[in-house]
Amino acid sequence: MNRRDAAKQRKLPLLSDHIGGRSQLTCLYRCGDACSHPVPNTSDNPYMGDLIASAVSRRSLFKAGVVATAGAGAAGALGGAAYASEDQAQASAFWGSTPRGLRFDAVEPNKEDAVTIPDGYEQQVVIRWGDPILDGVNEFDPTAQTPEDAVGQFGYNCDFLALLDLPGQRRHKVLVANHEYTSEEMMHYGYDSAAPTRDQVEIGWASHGLSVVVLKEDGNSGDLTPVVGHDLNRRITATSEFVLSGPAAGSDLLKTTADAEGALALGTLNNCAGGVTPWGTILSGEENFNQYFANAGLVTDATAKARLARYGLTGEASERKWEQYDPRFDVLQEPNEPNRFGWIVELDPYDPDWTPRKRTALGRFKHEGAGPRVDRYGRVVVYMGDDERFDYMYKFVSKNKMKTGTSRSVREHNRTLLDEGTLYVAKFTGDSPAAEIDGTGALPADGAFDGGGEWIKLASGDESFVDGMTAEEVYVFTRLAGDKVGATKMDRPEDVEVNPKSGKVYAALTNNSQRGATGKAAADEANPRSANKHGHVLELAEKNGDVTATTFGWILLLVCGDPEDPGTYFSGYPKDQVSPISCPDNVAFDPQGNLWISTDGNALGNNDGLFGVSLTGSTRGLTKQFLTVPIGAETCGPVVQDRHVLVAVQHPGEIDGASAETPASQWPDGPNGTLPRPSVVNVVKDGFGTIGC
Ligand code: FEO
Ligand code: CA
Ligand code: CA
Repeated sequence: MNRRDAAKQRKLPLLSDHIGGRSQLTCLYRCGDACSHPVPNTSDNPYMGDLIASAVSRRSLFKAGVVATAGAGAAGALGGAAYASEDQAQASAFWGSTPRGLRFDAVEPNKEDAVTIPDGYEQQVVIRWGDPILDGVNEFDPTAQTPEDAVGQFGYNCDFLALLDLPGQRRHKVLVANHEYTSEEMMHYGYDSAAPTRDQVEIGWASHGLSVVVLKEDGNSGDLTPVVGHDLNRRITATSEFVLSGPAAGSDLLKTTADAEGALALGTLNNCAGGVTPWGTILSGEENFNQYFANAGLVTDATAKARLARYGLTGEASERKWEQYDPRFDVLQEPNEPNRFGWIVELDPYDPDWTPRKRTALGRFKHEGAGPRVDRYGRVVVYMGDDERFDYMYKFVSKNKMKTGTSRSVREHNRTLLDEGTLYVAKFTGDSPAAEIDGTGALPADGAFDGGGEWIKLASGDESFVDGMTAEEVYVFTRLAGDKVGATKMDRPEDVEVNPKSGKVYAALTNNSQRGATGKAAADEANPRSANKHGHVLELAEKNGDVTATTFGWILLLVCGDPEDPGTYFSGYPKDQVSPISCPDNVAFDPQGNLWISTDGNALGNNDGLFGVSLTGSTRGLTKQFLTVPIGAETCGPVVQDRHVLVAVQHPGEIDGASAETPASQWPDGPNGTLPRPSVVNVVKDGFGTIGC
């Protein structure tokens, strides 16, 4: 009996103790059950304990790495409102040293089938899976859903969110959302996974991708309401056109029957996290694309098979059986089609006529997201994580500089920045003796998990820096390049984002059940716990704050879990005053520069949530839970602005045994609703006040 059948046999939905806190259903549909497959990285890279003698100056480098804030960060638009001095004095008296932005009563961990928020705040569902965003589309009816309607509706399983201003239209904003994956058993009544219908498959294609939706803001309540049919509204799906751009475009490795030039790809898949560029476009990461392709296990050519396996492409029939309706999803028929996924895509939400790009200069892997930043000289850096156990962290530095302004020529110039530059992979070195990292999370004698590191150059334009690989091969098989240069195997690097206030970089390492297992890399100072269930958060500072630096310092900010567990760490903040946090995934920053973290798969047994974390002064490490999401759901895409907190509630009710016939959640529509519906939630302070102040 396979895992799916086992799950189906259960009569009632069950909470699961599957790896981490995720259900088997989520693992199956979201990442193709990656945790149950062999770790794709079988390279023999030295792990960090072998590298202790590195010449990088470690803690001193880290301490010197505080960055003078550059001007035009992606979050520059966040801009905090003035805070009345009288109110500030009253608030300070009440909240003591709690920093602005985090002045709310933490919510308690729970297992409610609801979004819970602090007292004094209000919530509103902005948009749900199936809500029409284009004109002429039928209202959502899960018993009569069609591909034609789905392509005009908000897609399934919203993940990354961006909330942008809409110049010239007061009280209007542009929401961009990723739709990471579909869960067919949760979407369709009577779904037969062995024989999906064409309509079901096409609804799946239409429900992936991204949505761009204009919202109208109520100036009194803060409610955000979709403007159906707005000129900027659009859906990007698994069949939309993308220009393959950058140094690998036109490569033989990207050519297919339908695209002999290797220049135009159809669709984007498994778009997880993302980022907003300083020039106002959206970056979106194609993550677990491997699961959509069939028959990699039948490939006989050894080189091709090894390349496929390094990206997790194994086995025969795919879970969703798309190969039954489009041969490009069959690796035996279209061997290069998988090479056209696994990229960072760039979309201009303000220009529907501009075909979105797949940016090959940023490498191909299971991109979680992309954290862009521009420095004071206009140089652009993008930080990226490859979300797989024992995979790597990367950065891209542009060759050309960003121009400021809003003219068409400026915009066109800036939309070329991610096609030329240098791609690097990270190697971390600890500053404590390896013997002091015992895998329990116990701090080494110097009191910190910290050290230095190096950005190793992989390729720049047509030049490869990796022995035995051409530049095209480095871009298309970036994981293999990282293996060859000895990059550091990390505990599932998810979001990697830059704090616009400080320039420091924050990476969520979500968990790694295999750390320290037999034959696998042992705990090291940057990944200090064996069988890491709860994950950790790493802070990185480029040398002298220079985004082009090739060395950096780093320190672990949080080692997550139950604060009563001695193997956790909250930067020394009293552990009896923090919220439990497990499996950090997405990171964001509020206008005050506090870090916000959403979680995926709370392995402490409660629902996932959103947390604010202080980064500076005596409160550094203070961690407070701001909200929790319903049963079975994951918290995604946090946006924390002056007066709005937005989260994507992904896969509500997706617990083992749940299906359309046996839903495990009534969120968001309540007992009179139909199916649980992934949705975007807007949280505001009573009276539409400043969040956390
Ligand atoms: Fe789609 Fe790595 O989370
Ligand atoms: Ca140390
Ligand atoms: Ca994620």
